[in-house]
Amino acid sequence: MTIVFREETFHDDFTFRNSPEAVKRFPFPFPEDSYMYSVNLEPHKSYRPGSVYERTFDVDEHYVSEMRDRARVLAEDPLRCQSLPHMTLAGWDLLELIMTSKAEEYPELFELHRDGARWHWINRPLGIEQKFTFLDETTLPYGPMEYITRQTQGDFAVLDQRDDNLWMDAGMVTTQADWSLDFDIGMNFFEWHAPVPKAHEMGIFQRALKFLLNVQQGAPARRLNWTMTVNPLLDTSPENYHKWGVMKKDLTLEDMGQMMHLRVELQTFFRLPRSNALVFPIRCYLIKLDELVTVPKWARRFHRVIRDLPAELATYKGFISNRPKIVEWLSKYDDGALTSPGI
Ligand code: HEM
Repeated sequence: MTIVFREETFHDDFTFRNSPEAVKRFPFPFPEDSYMYSVNLEPHKSYRPGSVYERTFDVDEHYVSEMRDRARVLAEDPLRCQSLPHMTLAGWDLLELIMTSKAEEYPELFELHRDGARWHWINRPLGIEQKFTFLDETTLPYGPMEYITRQTQGDFAVLDQRDDNLWMDAGMVTTQADWSLDFDIGMNFFEWHAPVPKAHEMGIFQRALKFLLNVQQGAPARRLNWTMTVNPLLDTSPENYHKWGVMKKDLTLEDMGQMMHLRVELQTFFRLPRSNALVFPIRCYLIKLDELVTVPKWARRFHRVIRDLPAELATYKGFISNRPKIVEWLSKYDDGALTSPGI
């Protein structure tokens, strides 16, 4: 497999695009014509060669540019990466999980050589070669979590497990859908989910937490989440709302197809071996509406989902004011045909 890494930006001139191959493997998140929150958790097993689920940590054509964007965001705001002192061991666990998976699953891109605690890591796409001593922080340029997540697409929340709850005690968060690590650091599962509408009353968070507390090593889980973003912005953080919030106002029917993006998060859950922490990678995939409607069954279904979404969810996801225009634009791709469940 050869990946051609795209040169592109997620800010200012927004040159991000998906190749036709990337559109084909986009994780379209709707198994039916309507959407409501649910405990949509399933085993993170690989299936369908070429899909985003095939490997433990998907690497795609946006890898190099996404890592450049992360470095840019961190240079402006170092608080996007935080790790409370007791989370360092979990950082090493995460580094091990990512390095071993990538070296095994993408041998042409990554190599890991281990001689006891002396490790040698090679990351070809980013031109990195690093010899270091496992569990010795002084041998890496950053802490272990920061070191490896500067080289891995997606955000990472690292959760300490105690008192039958999960605590957001570490993370690398530069590609988030409007939430803040700096605000949430130290919070528990119910506290950081407090702003979400409806799901608390539906008992979703109680059931989800019960499931997560029991995730076992070697048996990761996953779910999809989604929202909408104007322009291909990875960093839609509250910290930078003054920059991207105003972009929502400029949307017209003429530039809807180019500017409005469906943003899908592939969220996975892994138990870590030494620390017993839970790591929650949140991998963001963006697709502009012009690209999405190249798949007629997605266009038809997406029109119905957006049209019928409960107002509380459209408000929380931040597109209630643009919804009429989005629905009008999408309606021309909906011929009214009956659809069957499945993607
Ligand atoms: C939203 C974190 C697991 C369901 C959120 C938010 C955060 C978050 C930070 C944004 C809240 C805000 O508005 O400030 C996490 C972490 C998890 C986790 C760290 C892993 C431990 C889950 C699970 C479920 C879930 C297992 C459900 C089955 C939701 C839902 C939303 C949400 C429905 C609202 C999303 C939307 O409408 O776009 N989560 N979450 N989360 N989370 Fe989680």
